[in-house]
Amino acid sequence: MAKQKSLYVCSACGYECAKWNGRCPDCGEWNTFEEKDVTIRKVASGKTAVSTVSSYNDSDILALSEIDSVSNEVRYNTGMSELDRVLGGGLVKGSLVLLGGEPGIGKSTLLLQICQFVGKNNTILYVSGEESARQIKLRANRLGVNTENLYILAKNDAEAICETIAKTTPGVVIIDSIQTMCINGISSSQGSITQVRECTNLFMHTAKSVEVPIFIVGHVNKDGAIAGPKVMEHIVDAVLYFEGQRNLSYRILRAEKNRFGSTNEIGVFEMVDNGLKEVPNPSQMLLSARPKNVSGCCVACAMEGTRPILAEVQALVTKSAFSSPRRTADGFDYNRLYLILAVLEKRLGLYCGGLDVFINIVGGLKLDEPAADLPIAMALYSSITDKTVPDNLIAFGEVGLAGEIRSVSHIRQRLLEAQRLGFEKAIVPKTALAELDKSKFDIEIVGVSSIRQAFDAIGK
Ligand code: TYD
Ligand code: MG
Repeated sequence: MAKQKSLYVCSACGYECAKWNGRCPDCGEWNTFEEKDVTIRKVASGKTAVSTVSSYNDSDILALSEIDSVSNEVRYNTGMSELDRVLGGGLVKGSLVLLGGEPGIGKSTLLLQICQFVGKNNTILYVSGEESARQIKLRANRLGVNTENLYILAKNDAEAICETIAKTTPGVVIIDSIQTMCINGISSSQGSITQVRECTNLFMHTAKSVEVPIFIVGHVNKDGAIAGPKVMEHIVDAVLYFEGQRNLSYRILRAEKNRFGSTNEIGVFEMVDNGLKEVPNPSQMLLSARPKNVSGCCVACAMEGTRPILAEVQALVTKSAFSSPRRTADGFDYNRLYLILAVLEKRLGLYCGGLDVFINIVGGLKLDEPAADLPIAMALYSSITDKTVPDNLIAFGEVGLAGEIRSVSHIRQRLLEAQRLGFEKAIVPKTALAELDKSKFDIEIVGVSSIRQAFDAIGK
């Protein structure tokens, strides 16, 4: 028998309980519980099932074939091929894109810069809750943005902004930043989880109903999460992170989630006097200013989506002054480093027990694919034994627990990129050689099946 019962649901976090509470035990918000009528039914197993009273009509259910095809998906070019690539081939009409990054990394600069190109055929509404219209004008002057189609709105009332968007239907909307937006009906302060989530929901609704693409800028807080952790990521269509190191002018744009494309692609930019400049040839940039004839360095080739990128791996292994030695890995998985050190110890007798180990991937790149194992192992070997790896050598391959070198994907593309940048010797997994025609390459290819063979192939 079905019986009517009340259920109380927190409007801030969705926590459900049978009794009304003044304060939500889950998210800690005050006065957020609302009553909801539910029907409790006995199901076959004897357990009870809870469902809301209303049900859907037959017309709400669609057969897959009845749904309009997505082939007429409209994409805008942003004028920056690095950004288009990360977006999966341009900005999709009606999509909500979150651009996250630390304050000062260049989010506003990037979005203002694309206005010049996007403004050729579309009107743009740039909503800023952070800077005044005058400040934006000054920045636009500096970036050489002077399109007639750019409109600035220095306000932060999300509901009023959405109404304006629905009324004026601009081609593209930029919200800078979500932490400054607020809905007056919600009592919590700007930047709080509730405000951020509700504002994002509102913009999502507007993006879909008005069919306008909206960029939302979100600052990443100290913990590395976009403020209001995870509350926006599941709502928006794409999450892009803008990353970089303070002391370097290079910035890497990475897709964390993308409903319209791959999340493997990266875009590389350089911050210069007049804004962000695209870096179409990141390998060259990452390898510039490489030290010569120094131990502990080896060049790796990582695949970032469809693009091979060469990066320098540096290792420093020194005697530790402490009883528990330090291990740090910047741009490489910490646990993977332990694994490689264990393989070096067990299979080659290179003991690192009393030694500090530091790994750094130059240029702020993150190497998170197994192909980076071998160059890391070579850099470690080079630092421990003080033998230099030749400058013209590149290596890639996965290191197995038995000390074997396993094959990796995209060997051809990696070799071509190394060849293009003037490398003369490549150490690759032997198993990969079968499908490779060595004569087609201008680079010496050495296939190795164990980590020991790889070290022997360095020469000297
Ligand atoms: P900004 O886009 O304001 O960062 P965010 O919106 O992510 O907080 O970037 C600000 C930084 O960029 C600032 O520290 C100065 C630097 N910058 C340049 O180096 N060149 C430029 O042309 C511009 C506009 C900014
Ligand atoms: Mg900004």
